[in-house]
Amino acid sequence: MAATQTSSDPLRLEHRLRDAGLFIRQALQTFRATGAVAPSSSTLANALTRYITERDDPSAPLSILEAGSGTGPVSRAIATHMRDGDTFDMVEPNEQFVTRLNGLLETDPDFTPVADRTTVHQALVTDLGTDRRFDVIVSGLPFANFTADEVRTIMEYYFTVLRPGGHLSFFGYLYTKQVKAVIAPRADYLRQAQSGWVVDEWVDRYGVGRERVFRNLPPAWIFHLRKPLD
Ligand SMILES: C[S@@+](CC[C@H](N)C(=O)[O-])C[C@H]1O[C@@H](n2cnc3c(N)ncnc32)[C@H](O)[C@@H]1O
Repeated sequence: MAATQTSSDPLRLEHRLRDAGLFIRQALQTFRATGAVAPSSSTLANALTRYITERDDPSAPLSILEAGSGTGPVSRAIATHMRDGDTFDMVEPNEQFVTRLNGLLETDPDFTPVADRTTVHQALVTDLGTDRRFDVIVSGLPFANFTADEVRTIMEYYFTVLRPGGHLSFFGYLYTKQVKAVIAPRADYLRQAQSGWVVDEWVDRYGVGRERVFRNLPPAWIFHLRKPLD
């Protein structure tokens, strides 16, 4: 049986480094799906949880969905900001990441207090079904690696399962378009430009905030969107 960690456990740094190693290995094998060179920083992760920390009604529990949990840095920020009654669904298709996430729920002190209200789904987020509703969706999906149609399908899915008044927060990396303009094949540059237009469309329609996070590798934009009440 795995030993339970305490929050001051010196092994935590070792575990973070191991997560970074796992992430980088998976990124090398499946870059299109993983879409990053390193797990998100705690600064980016905390900024993504804005609508879990800032609540319209502090007495109403939230149902939270995280798409693309990876090795769990954003999941950790979500778990530590959850309050009584909140529920948390993580969706991640990569089996190795899912094993890691289940391990966190069993032994990590940031996760064990919410483990009975948290579920890890090994799936693509759009395969989760439309019978659930969420108050907050935090998306880590690498839209810049997807086609315009894939981004549209995912955005439509998010706005189907999001409750009216609910929030979607997601991020993208700064300067990727400029870098791709120089180094990527023209077809890939055009694909990214087209998927970026779809993202812009949704941000223009529903955006309520954006912020830049420089303490991340690479630096990132965060976008916050809100589903209208009617
Ligand atoms: C950029 S990484 C982000 C990982 C983590 N949230 C972080 O911030 O470090 C993207 C993650 O999305 C997952 N992913 C890719 N396509 C997905 C999809 N359609 N549904 C759910 N997760 C997906 C990948 O396996 C990967 O773990």
